[in-house]
Amino acid sequence: MTSLFDIIGPIDPPRETIAEGAVLLRGQAVSFERDVLAALETVTAQAPFRRMTTPGGHVMSVAMTNCGAAGWVTDRTGYRYHAVDPQSGRPWPEMPPAFQALASTAAAEAGYGEFAPDVCLINRYEPGARLSLHQDRNERDFARPIVSVSLGLPAIFQFGGLKRTDPVREFALRHGDVVVWGGASRLCFHSVAALKGGVHDRFGRARINLTFRGAL
Ligand code: SIN
Ligand code: FE2
Repeated sequence: MTSLFDIIGPIDPPRETIAEGAVLLRGQAVSFERDVLAALETVTAQAPFRRMTTPGGHVMSVAMTNCGAAGWVTDRTGYRYHAVDPQSGRPWPEMPPAFQALASTAAAEAGYGEFAPDVCLINRYEPGARLSLHQDRNERDFARPIVSVSLGLPAIFQFGGLKRTDPVREFALRHGDVVVWGGASRLCFHSVAALKGGVHDRFGRARINLTFRGAL
């Protein structure tokens, strides 16, 4: 029998505190979508997605690029922020105003006023791509929050505690959802489960994640 749930899908609260200092804002990015998509095309034309290699020699399943004053990179020598795109030898594309507006608005909505990110890591997941459990700790200080925007296909986001072995809670992140974490949860471990198949009407067979940070 078809239930109401099958017709309208899950009903999530518009705002959910997922840990101390961590908030999930449903659909927060939707009103920015047009400008963000156009800006994304400009950025990726200058700095295309690429799959980077971890220090251990593993090629990541997630393809990445960056914009802003520096970009997060990994290779055999380690993880770091770098002002230049190693692939082109040029500075990373500037952070588009639409990206900044989205990040600052979402941060303020989550209780982090005055957040102006200097970097944005852009992740592209295709079916099967995943991100293993990690902390974001390559930034200079941890006083500033992280703003993580989901676009395209849905994914399962796993959010744990300050220890690698702490239990994780799972959240389905859909197109337009934004997670902001900082303060007591700034160094919480998190991961993204292998992306399932599917086709999104604007993003195709992909999930795009924009991760805004204050890194420098
Ligand atoms: C990340 O941890 O850098 C990405 C998180 C996500 O894709 O939602
Ligand atoms: Fe992360």
